[in-house]
Amino acid sequence: MLIFLWAESQGHVIGFKGQLPWHLPADMHFFKTVTTGNTIIAGSKTFASFPHALPNRKNVVLTHQSAANFPASVTVLDSFDAVRQYAAQRPTEKLFVVGGAQLFNGLQADVDFLYRTTIDAGFDGDTWMPALDYSKFQRINRQPGVRNEKNPYDYVFEQFQRIVD
Ligand SMILES: NC(=O)c1ccc[n+]([C@@H]2O[C@H](COP(=O)([O-])OP(=O)(O)OC[C@H]3O[C@@H](n4cnc5c(N)ncnc54)[C@H](OP(=O)(O)O)[C@@H]3O)[C@@H](O)[C@H]2O)c1
Repeated sequence: MLIFLWAESQGHVIGFKGQLPWHLPADMHFFKTVTTGNTIIAGSKTFASFPHALPNRKNVVLTHQSAANFPASVTVLDSFDAVRQYAAQRPTEKLFVVGGAQLFNGLQADVDFLYRTTIDAGFDGDTWMPALDYSKFQRINRQPGVRNEKNPYDYVFEQFQRIVD
């Protein structure tokens, strides 16, 4: 199953200058908790924003580049159809599409679950979450985040499931 996992701030901002616009350790912890033991699928720009392939989970990268440009542990796919095929071959596995905008845009017709963190703060951005058709999804969970010194924003974790008609 394909799951989008992302955090967005006001105005659907998700990125700035190749990185996250904010520092929100509670969301990084959530990311680690839900993806560990599963699979992440990242665009090459998002993958480049990581210090290295993320440990204790399968790393899949979407790129037109040669696989030789990536660590040997990484699975390299070269088209959205290749991602769809990869997912179809693994129907019971949780495959977390972790961005960026290009992947969220190209795979929105295929995604089964949405794991969204909404940060109620404004940041400069150059990358935005595409408009998703939320009428095709039902919310299955909502958990406000804890605001504290290290996480100085209001934020909420939500999960949505595609409505099967
Ligand atoms: N807030 C969040 O939750 C979140 C999540 C993820 C990312 N981000 C941020 O978003 C920004 C990056 O997002 P982005 O949209 O610019 O880039 P991206 O989606 O991460 O990566 C784009 C790259 O993916 C590859 N790609 C895209 N479509 C492809 C296709 N159909 N076939 C083969 N390869 C394909 C291409 O790689 P090649 O050029 O190598 O061919 C393309 O340049 C960063 O600032 C990052 O920090 C934020």
